Amino acid sequence: MSIFTQTTWFDSLDSTNTYLKDAIAGGAEAARSGSVVVARAQLKGRGRKSRAWLSDRGENLTFSFVLAIPERRRDFPTLTLAAGVAVCETLAGFGAEGQIKWPNDILIKGRKICGILCETVQTESGLFAVCGIGINVNMQAAQMASIDKPATSLLEETQICYRVEDVLEAVLSSLESRLGLWLDGGFAALRERWMALACGLGMPIAVEEDGIAKDSGFFQGAGESGALLLRRISGETVELYCGDVAWNSCKL
Ligand code: BTN
Repeated sequence: MSIFTQTTWFDSLDSTNTYLKDAIAGGAEAARSGSVVVARAQLKGRGRKSRAWLSDRGENLTFSFVLAIPERRRDFPTLTLAAGVAVCETLAGFGAEGQIKWPNDILIKGRKICGILCETVQTESGLFAVCGIGINVNMQAAQMASIDKPATSLLEETQICYRVEDVLEAVLSSLESRLGLWLDGGFAALRERWMALACGLGMPIAVEEDGIAKDSGFFQGAGESGALLLRRISGETVELYCGDVAWNSCKL
């Protein structure tokens, strides 16, 4: 049985995540597990920690889907990591080799091409995830200059202009396969693949909260629970569940 059941395109939405979260809370049809919502223009796109996600009309892919979380998936925060594997594999199919920066960024040579924002809504009938994915498809260098961090797009990486519809079809097909594994076996079923795609394995990093370094050491990837594995200079390895990975600010 397919995971994705219906796809609805909107000319414009504030945020596909917000739309689906509101729909779930209101018990609307669009909120069923497997519903996909895509916006040609997203006016108030959101990233982690309330950061803005900028995307010009028609240039990029901005979509979200609903997934009912079964009780056995207590490791549901690792949905982000599973989605990251699916996106990386999709980009590779378009000739762009991405890497995953824990937990939810996809980078190509240090420049961000995709962000993933998974949120949850608890209802009387169970827990639902809303997973939102933004992929820079046809964004040009001049537009990306207005983003505060280095960014790239499929166009920049391959010099080919892709149809956003084709990128959506490919990413949904990859998600279908990867989320199938995740629903049955959790992150453990995908961890090996995730580690092969992880950015900066073995490198010195700082783990920051609101721009302030809280810990530092060598990045060891993600553990079975999805937590960031950090080997401190003392040799001790710790699991961290939140924070931003920074390479440049690390002073070991
Ligand atoms: C991040 O980089 O912190 C995550 C960015 C997630 C952006 C996508 S675009 C589609 C969906 N709708 C949103 O408002 N955000 C996500």
